[in-house]
Amino acid sequence: MQRIAVCPGSFDPITNGHLDIIRRASRLFDRVIVLISHNADKHESFSPQERADLVKMVTDDLDNVEVDVFDGLLAEYVRAKGACAIVKGLRAVSDFEYEFQMALANKRLNDQAETVFLTTSTENMYLSSSIVRQIAALGGDVSPFVPARILPVINKRFQTEKE
Ligand code: PNS
Repeated sequence: MQRIAVCPGSFDPITNGHLDIIRRASRLFDRVIVLISHNADKHESFSPQERADLVKMVTDDLDNVEVDVFDGLLAEYVRAKGACAIVKGLRAVSDFEYEFQMALANKRLNDQAETVFLTTSTENMYLSSSIVRQIAALGGDVSPFVPARILPVINKRFQTEKE
């Protein structure tokens, strides 16, 4: 039986921290679905399809990773795919309460899947998409924070927003 994991998030845009978690998950599971989901608490800079395209660009070397877009309840998506795990990266104590809450809610909605937390690599401890968006919007250099392949797309988006 294939062990399928879903790695959900806003990925707006994908950062080096996300990519590290996806790579590590791809070594733990037979199949990993990176799920571009909607976070009702966040304003999004890239459309769901744009975010999916960016994730595809930087994961195309990972044979067991695929990318999907879904606007509904994560627990139902996980059930429909027969996945056994929801994989999330945990950066710092500040992430814990929110992630813990979501893990418990998802478990209540679908007890067939476990939430698996991977601790972020130390170099990505402080990194988030919102930090990347803020720096890019102010004309700063985000090259240390995002995969090189998607840097031109990100720069172009935030340059255009300023014009
Ligand atoms: O990268 P984020 O913004 O921390 O990811 C949060 C996300 C998108 C995984 C979360 O908001 C989510 O699961 N959204 C899908 C809708 C849903 O199922 N909400 C209830 C979660 S308990």
